[in-house]
Amino acid sequence: MSKFWSAIVHELTPYVPGEQPKLTNLVKLNTNENPYGPSPKVLAALEAEAADSLRLYPDPTSDRVVQAVAKFYNVPDTHVFVGNGSDEVLAHTFHALLKHDAPILFPDITYSFYPVYCGLYGIEYQTVALDGEFEINVDDYKRPNGGIIFPNPNAPTGRGLPLAEIERLLKANTESVVVIDEAYVDFGAESAVGLVEQYPNLLVTHTLSKARSLAGLRVGYAIGQPHLIEALVRVKDSFNSYPLDRFAISGAAAAIEDRAYFEETCRKVVATREALVKELQALGFVVLPSAANFIFARHGERSGAELAAGLRERSIIVRHFSKPARISDFLRITIGTDAQSQVLVHALKEILTP
Ligand SMILES: Cc1ncc(COP(=O)(O)O)c(C=O)c1O
Repeated sequence: MSKFWSAIVHELTPYVPGEQPKLTNLVKLNTNENPYGPSPKVLAALEAEAADSLRLYPDPTSDRVVQAVAKFYNVPDTHVFVGNGSDEVLAHTFHALLKHDAPILFPDITYSFYPVYCGLYGIEYQTVALDGEFEINVDDYKRPNGGIIFPNPNAPTGRGLPLAEIERLLKANTESVVVIDEAYVDFGAESAVGLVEQYPNLLVTHTLSKARSLAGLRVGYAIGQPHLIEALVRVKDSFNSYPLDRFAISGAAAAIEDRAYFEETCRKVVATREALVKELQALGFVVLPSAANFIFARHGERSGAELAAGLRERSIIVRHFSKPARISDFLRITIGTDAQSQVLVHALKEILTP
């Protein structure tokens, strides 16, 4: 607290990111990073960038990334916005498209940055409870609102919502923007990008941090019709003209262009996930069906806090949310390599053995 703070800073409850420990030799399964490195073509592009060009400002509109994204999804360039991680894209989205008179809606259990953006930008919100199976029921969103946002698959549950349900929501909600945060979609859910042409109020956001193994580069993007993109550009150009540096532009373009590497990496992560789910079920865990690069699981007899602490003692970090009570016995476990899964399962067997 300080008398020098503005009133809004006094009121903020900032987001707390998952721990990035300084220790090495940890099995780090807490922030949904990809266990595989980025495409070798990304590394070559980054090396090529480390030259005289760093003297110069980067392209303020990151055209190479915009074009790569547009080509990947077969949409016009005018439908694409890029930013410094999808967190920045989401921040601009809240500011540009979700701040209206009515409260916005998002699930009660979801990405915990959403209420933080509401606090920062003074946006009213209402949460909508997930059903008993931790699923989003789109009928619950049929009420007046200033916008709707949720991840598909949802985080931290990992549950995917079929595209037909998203389309049903869009048909029922034509007067405010619907944002589908597809940070994890490439691991098994259906993308809504194909609906953008038909629905002028749909914005889909993505990140390169997960399926493209580039959490450290900070690149995200949004796809929507040009009038939505223009709103994001207006906010971006009132905030930071150069959100992507030269490395980020080169690396991101190379990552998106290397479709084969991306598909292979996703396939490996999904295969490891399916094998791990079976092993955890055999140990007495209830695992929610996951379409993401993490699983959300609870043990029938041990608390989430106890399991997370036991794993930490064995140098394995997973994410545990003590609130709300409904998820306090769950662990969110990022999918690592097969070898990391084996270390995890071995440690859990030790903890569970009386
Ligand atoms: C649902 C969801 N959306 C967006 C993000 C932000 O991703 P980034 O800022 O790394 O692009 C995350 C990060 O974990 C997430 O879980």
